Amino acid sequence: MRKWIVATAATVALVGVVSWVQGAEKKSIKEVMKAAHGGGANSLLAKVAGGKGTKEDAEKLLALYEDLAKNEAPRGSAEAWKAKNDEIIKQAKAIVNGDASAGAKLRAATNCMKCHNDHKPAD
Ligand code: HEC
Repeated sequence: MRKWIVATAATVALVGVVSWVQGAEKKSIKEVMKAAHGGGANSLLAKVAGGKGTKEDAEKLLALYEDLAKNEAPRGSAEAWKAKNDEIIKQAKAIVNGDASAGAKLRAATNCMKCHNDHKPAD
């Protein structure tokens, strides 16, 4: 009985650490916006979508968008949020895999106003 309790407590502690680590790894929406879209014409997105980024740039952008998708939409429907994120990730992946034509599609998928109108809370 005592052994069982110790084992259970250890498992609970481990699960807690794992979810804490995963939570710490995920960037918030605001962090993704800054890292991917900050800098206007010099943003990571502009570089990658414009074909001027390296493969590492494209991989970094994809990782940011994968984090973005793990966040819940602060406003608007969860389905619409998922649909937008799925398309963004699909095109970012295509660029990582060397598909040059995905740049324009990624541009369209990351339309700032379209997503902000649907999901960004009014300040
Ligand atoms: C897939 C949806 C989506 C797309 C595409 C998107 N955004 Fe955002 N953005 C958001 C959401 C949601 C917020 C609000 C986050 C919050 O308030 O928690 C936001 C917030 C921001 C912020 C405010 C960050 C802060 O610290 O308050 C900036 C700046 C921003 N976006 C820039 C951009 C730019 C530039 C583009 C286009 C290149 C863009 N975003 C495209 C969803 C998106």
